[in-house]
Amino acid sequence: MREIWGSRVGFILASIGSAIGLGNIWRFGYITYENGGGAFLLPYFVALFVTGISLLMAEFALGHKFKSSAPIAMKHIGKKFEWVGWWAVISAFIITTYYIVVIGWALVYFTKSFTLAWGSDTKSYFFENVLNLSDSPWQLNGFAMEVLIAVIFIWLLNWFVVFKGVKRGIEKANLIMMPLLWILAIILVLRAVTLPGALDGIEWYLKPDFSKIGDYKIWIAAFGQIFFSLSLAMGIMIAYASYLPEKSDIANNSFIVGLTDSAFSFLIGFAVFGTLGYMAFVTQTNIQEVVAGGVGLAFVVFPKALNLIPGLPELVAAIFFLTLFIAGLSSSISLVESITSALIDKFKMSRSKAVNTVFFLGFLGSLVYTTTAGLYWLDIIDHFINYYGLVLVALLEVVAVAWFFKLSSLREHINSISEIKVGSWWEWALKYATVLVLTTLLILDIYGNLQKPYGDYAIDALAAGVAVIIFGMLVSLLLTLRRGKDVS
Ligand code: ALA
Repeated sequence: MREIWGSRVGFILASIGSAIGLGNIWRFGYITYENGGGAFLLPYFVALFVTGISLLMAEFALGHKFKSSAPIAMKHIGKKFEWVGWWAVISAFIITTYYIVVIGWALVYFTKSFTLAWGSDTKSYFFENVLNLSDSPWQLNGFAMEVLIAVIFIWLLNWFVVFKGVKRGIEKANLIMMPLLWILAIILVLRAVTLPGALDGIEWYLKPDFSKIGDYKIWIAAFGQIFFSLSLAMGIMIAYASYLPEKSDIANNSFIVGLTDSAFSFLIGFAVFGTLGYMAFVTQTNIQEVVAGGVGLAFVVFPKALNLIPGLPELVAAIFFLTLFIAGLSSSISLVESITSALIDKFKMSRSKAVNTVFFLGFLGSLVYTTTAGLYWLDIIDHFINYYGLVLVALLEVVAVAWFFKLSSLREHINSISEIKVGSWWEWALKYATVLVLTTLLILDIYGNLQKPYGDYAIDALAAGVAVIIFGMLVSLLLTLRRGKDVS
């Protein structure tokens, strides 16, 4: 008997938990700011409605209709597409190995919050004290010990929750984590917007710069953000929907998950930019000089801003890193479940054996990122998997479902159980708009990278990054070719 969610709320919260992650906190605000502020919301919402929610709905429908995780669900679409499902799962595996390390950094910083241990030179603290960063990707001089311990702890947490199963593990964890995450986020926003200078920061964040709308790069940024944020093409949403009971409102659930994820991003942007505005105000600098994206925002710039918070900066710091930790954890759990459920479905492994396998191999993979060269590898692999891996998986997935399968039957399936009836726009959105967008993204990404190789890395390190992606494809192929025990 396939496991089943205990309640609709449980499923929705778990899916929202997967969607809201590290990407919402350090990526959304920065990307919005960099790509035209308020004007960015236009491509962002186009991306959300035209392809984001449409694909999310397709993934939910696939999981629900075929009651299986990504590889077997894709096998139902066509035998040759099982491989695409595995590739989504293997991509999830690769992402999990480094995603957990970033949650590890957040945990290390959470423990440091109570004394604001990072001091005033937050850059040296992060790169030297915490990461122990070496000079190049090939210099793996031992481990960053605190990070390693945090990573062990987070892997164990993931193992525990997924081991417990869908209802008693994943659902229960999210029933606690999601309300808490929103409460913490609201506290952060309230603290930030009541600081002097905060409004200037928020104005920076949202000031529309319509001159940028014509630039194709902001469209790429919007679609990329939506795909990563909605956990698409990672096998996650297919697996989560496979545990839904017969009567489940797929259309409504897709809108709820998609819109809640965006609402969280938008909200937390007020906390991030409000706080940065305050820092600029106190230090009498230009906001532009204090803003940074990615790793730099959360672990270098933000600690600096937190130092300046009046009242109890230690508490606000602890809340910020706890928010990052919880957002990350609920997403990592979904990544681990995507892989676990695929192993269970194809090889009829027991849940415990499947989780142990993912835990063991995943932890080994994470070790690379806890070495003193970890940040370099994280940056390289993240780049290739986000820009090529996921986009390609998503494209293959959509092409398979929309062009090699009777998409109308999937729509009928959705409509037979959903309150809102989905019109033919949905088929149009997947068949043409999403395929067009993903193909364009891929071509532009390849073109951009050929023009200027990513980062300042030596070519052998970049080649290693590409090799990981190719290796992932081969493993997917091997898993497809292995005889499974699935009956379908
Ligand atoms: N959806 C998750 C995130 O945004 C993976 O971080």
